[in-house]
Amino acid sequence: MPIPEPSVEMALHEALSVDLKPFNTFGLSCIAERVLTATAEDDVRDAVGTVAANEALSLVLGGGSNLLFTQERLTGTVLHINLLGKHVVSETDDAVVVEAAAGEPWHPFVLWTLENGWGGLENLSLIPGNVGTTPVQNVGAYGVETKDVCTEVRFVERGTGAVHTFSAADCAFGYRDSVFKGPWRNRAVITAVRFHLTKRNHTLKTHYGSVDAELEAAGIQPSPQSISDAVVRIRRSKLPDPAELGNSGSFFKNPTVSAEEYARLRALKSDAPGYPQADGRVKLAAGWLIEQAGWKGYRRGDAGVHAKQALVLVNYGRATGPEIWQLAQDVVADVHAKFGVSLEPEVNLVGGGL
Ligand code: EPU
Repeated sequence: MPIPEPSVEMALHEALSVDLKPFNTFGLSCIAERVLTATAEDDVRDAVGTVAANEALSLVLGGGSNLLFTQERLTGTVLHINLLGKHVVSETDDAVVVEAAAGEPWHPFVLWTLENGWGGLENLSLIPGNVGTTPVQNVGAYGVETKDVCTEVRFVERGTGAVHTFSAADCAFGYRDSVFKGPWRNRAVITAVRFHLTKRNHTLKTHYGSVDAELEAAGIQPSPQSISDAVVRIRRSKLPDPAELGNSGSFFKNPTVSAEEYARLRALKSDAPGYPQADGRVKLAAGWLIEQAGWKGYRRGDAGVHAKQALVLVNYGRATGPEIWQLAQDVVADVHAKFGVSLEPEVNLVGGGL
């Protein structure tokens, strides 16, 4: 009897009618028709490598930390990326290049680099989600963005199964942006990311937010480890822990407006924060606008605006995706009515919305 060809199901784990509640940090219930779990790059190629397989796919799910299910059911197939592993690719006396598989949880990966004495990721401590998501939106915090440390992104092209390696320049990183949100949106499944880290002569960034003050208060010299500890303390004081209170971090992007629009806003509110950009435009603080519009700490059922950081929407337990999405739209409409500024979601809307 001929030995059967290995089928997709033999490598990919398949499950039907799965509630994705444990797989999104908002803690929203959403019943997926079919979930395939990939643990190796070949699984990803099996799952998206043909046009038919790719067309069946409704979502590629990583750490689920930056998405909102706007509906309570999801038809089609969800591909869950569970690729694990991390290793040193190359090193010199000064620096090291490390690679992590897309499914590695981000913060434990950051801690691993710090335990090895490597600098570069400390400002990005305690960010929820997995390694594979960080390049997509060029995750950033406390003055450091993924683009400052990422050297390469490896991904499988949907529809063909081709494996590509993009340099940081190819990724065209911008504020909460990259080619994976532009021309490659819905066309790439990231499988691994490489980072360039320092072994000595670290480039330490402490001037953003309250990192300096936090270090001074504790009487500690800046180092990758002490900066990480400070960032962890700051984030814990402002941002809710998804394990305790469902959320997806910043729900909206900080909007960028023209200098004239900023002047108009300052005429309304003289203390409106604005951060001038290289191109002459001004980045506003969405959290400030939402707070000034009166939404900070607002709660409707189990959907709310976080009491300590208005940029974060929260699920107190039983909110549904459509309820969070309705609240988000109400906040957008009100901020626009009061300040003439349009807020855009930073999280990915799964199930439609805009
Ligand atoms: N602000 C308020 N009220 C609020 C929140 C903020 O007035 O409720 C004011 C602050 O006082 C400050 C300004 O808004 O003047 C900026 O606030 P903050 O420094 O807390 O940062 P953010 O702009 O609210 C951004 C990122 C965060 C990142 C922090 C620190 C975006 C969309 N968000 O928030 O990223 O952790 O800076 O670097 O750029 C995320 O993307 O999920 C995220 C948490």
